[in-house]
Amino acid sequence: MGELRNLISIHDLDREQIDEILDVAAKMESVSVKRSKDLESKIMAVLFFEPSTRTRLSFESAMLRLGGSILGFAEAGTSSAGGKGETLADTIRTVERYADIIVMRHPLDGSARVAAEFSSIPVINAGSGSEEHPTQALLDLYSIKKLKGKIDGLTISLCGDLKYGRTVHSLGMGLSHYDVKINLVAPQQLRMKPAIIDEMKKAGVEVVQVDAVKEAIQDVDVVYMTRIQKERFPDVREYDKVKGRFRIGSAEAELLRDDAIILHPLPRVDELSSNIDHLPQAKYFDQVYNGVILRMAILKMILG
Ligand code: CP
Repeated sequence: MGELRNLISIHDLDREQIDEILDVAAKMESVSVKRSKDLESKIMAVLFFEPSTRTRLSFESAMLRLGGSILGFAEAGTSSAGGKGETLADTIRTVERYADIIVMRHPLDGSARVAAEFSSIPVINAGSGSEEHPTQALLDLYSIKKLKGKIDGLTISLCGDLKYGRTVHSLGMGLSHYDVKINLVAPQQLRMKPAIIDEMKKAGVEVVQVDAVKEAIQDVDVVYMTRIQKERFPDVREYDKVKGRFRIGSAEAELLRDDAIILHPLPRVDELSSNIDHLPQAKYFDQVYNGVILRMAILKMILG
């Protein structure tokens, strides 16, 4: 694989590159336990202009397990961008002088691409607006491969907020490199953008749109549930119309095949009942740990 510099969009990667990242991640399983000093001389800057638990902390955990160091901010208000109106370009031109790599989450679509244009050091997109979350898609692909032994040949239901949810945008496009069938399960108002569906179909993926959660969980290999992204609705009354509509509880979970898995990028609100957390199919907290492994692989491939 050619050198990996920035990771802005899942579009930056072809299947060969994705498979290589997943292979490197598998090797990181043992490194994460033993720890290494591979990135001892490297500093990672985390610039989070939006809240995060998993993405920021798993990147930090990944960097610490590889021996590197970390600096940054967890909310824009503590930076000069939030407090004093400094531009993103000037923020990047400053931080590049303090660190070897930037991991950035930002509320605007296109922000990660802009940051990369101004940066002389690599930039990783940790979530940009409702557009993309490429490292989440890679850890989702890694989780599917680890738990199901393969990706090709599977039927996968992407459920919930397919309009504003950036994880499903990146995952849908990532899955397009594989021989899969995808069910898109969302309320009418929150359906996947036609451009992304067209892209999946053009890649040869069989895409079916369904309206009911029941249809989404019967006879599928993977159920990928997502939260309705309240913070991205222009009008909260629109959110009120759809909240609580898509939910997997004990009754719905009875429809799952024994060998199916339920994934969720988290955080969840009410779309996955905690009553199903004990089920063997509930794999979303295993998925959380895979975020550390996958991000170790990305940092190693870019900086190592
Ligand atoms: N999955 C995910 O992006 O979680 P956080 O918002 O907690 O980072």
